[in-house]
Amino acid sequence: MNIHAIYPGTFDPPTNGHIDIVRRSLRLFSQITVAVSANPAKAPLFSFEERRGFFLQEFGGAPAFEVVSLEGELLVGFARKIGAQVIIRGLRAVSDFDYEFQMTLMNRRLNEELETIFLMPSEQYSFISSSLVKEVASLGGDVSELAPPSVCSALAKRYAP
Ligand code: COA
Repeated sequence: MNIHAIYPGTFDPPTNGHIDIVRRSLRLFSQITVAVSANPAKAPLFSFEERRGFFLQEFGGAPAFEVVSLEGELLVGFARKIGAQVIIRGLRAVSDFDYEFQMTLMNRRLNEELETIFLMPSEQYSFISSSLVKEVASLGGDVSELAPPSVCSALAKRYAP
């Protein structure tokens, strides 16, 4: 079956957990669109182009893989517009469940036809979040095992003394 899946998130920056989810998704779906949310509430450190670049460094050669910006519209409307049938979300721990449960049911209410599928990242990434990676990097900690190399060098530049 040809299934087009959309993977939305803020990805500021993408971590190894997000990369792990994309890698798993590429094995399951015929087309993956990563939708990078502008999310002004989170005051992103990296621009959309930078965040897109981080993904392309990892998956630029993959067929049917693209990274687009999601700004000022509902995810379900955007998914319909690009013909995606599935939303992918990562579930790291039980603590993610409440938020994901609410979002999934709201999205279903808005568009019955769109299914949300949860994937679990490898356990070594179950404690990572973008905020924690930024905090550790900003204080000089080593994040080389938490985020892809392009992200690590961008963080090092951004937080250079
Ligand atoms: N590995 C590592 N970290 C992960 C992860 C994984 N597999 N999965 C989630 N996270 C982390 C993220 O890094 C992020 O951490 P942070 O808060 O420190 O940045 C956190 O979990 C959750 O963020 P994310 O998965 O990026 O989701 P989000 O809450 O930032 O984005 C959207 C949610 C974009 C999907 C949602 O806001 C949306 O759909 N917006 C469009 C507007 C809309 O339709 N709104 C109605 C929704 S019902």
